[in-house]
Amino acid sequence: MNELREILKFYGEMGAEFLHLPGGDPRAGLAELNREILQCRRCRLHEGKTHYVPGEGSNRPGIVFVGEGPGETEDQFGRPFIGKAGQLLDKIIQKMGLERDAVFITNVVKCRPPNNREPMKDEVDACLPYLLRQLAALRPRVIVCLGKVALNNMLGTSHSMGRIRGQLLSFNGIPLVPTYHPAFILHKKDKDEISKAKWEVWEDMQKVLALIASDRP
Ligand code: URA
Repeated sequence: MNELREILKFYGEMGAEFLHLPGGDPRAGLAELNREILQCRRCRLHEGKTHYVPGEGSNRPGIVFVGEGPGETEDQFGRPFIGKAGQLLDKIIQKMGLERDAVFITNVVKCRPPNNREPMKDEVDACLPYLLRQLAALRPRVIVCLGKVALNNMLGTSHSMGRIRGQLLSFNGIPLVPTYHPAFILHKKDKDEISKAKWEVWEDMQKVLALIASDRP
């Protein structure tokens, strides 16, 4: 037992957030991870939140959607993407021929930033290990990054979504498809611009579907 403690201490000191034990089911850690998130005090965002929003969905998802952070409605109910942007995301998922509970939906930060501002670097640094552990446990076939805030915080980049979308990226060995955040489309006024953005999201989602299909025997 002491030896095991020493080994875990060593990996902890090396900065490891989780260990894959041979033969263990990585999904078994998801419930514990949720419990950890629901008590988190790693950054200031927990002070202003109503509910933590860890994420929800299948624990064997082909796709994990990652947004920026909970908005007002999500904060109120503790569930991701259930406000206006979430309703558009639901339509996208439906158009892909999938059920919402067949995918997993989460955010880069699990507490609502005040007034829906972008999460700050130290807040992302504090929260990102939770996303890493979710992805390690869920092992999706593909990650969809909704918007440039999620994308750039995950990759440590400063891409413009207009330029980077259409490319297939990768995160910790998992294919990553970047696309517009649903709220970006909802904020547009010009009908042609709305149609163009929706079409581009649809192109991106077809890439996602092709990746999932390529996995089937
Ligand atoms: N916008 C996000 O980025 N995430 C949510 O959960 C809701 C809105």
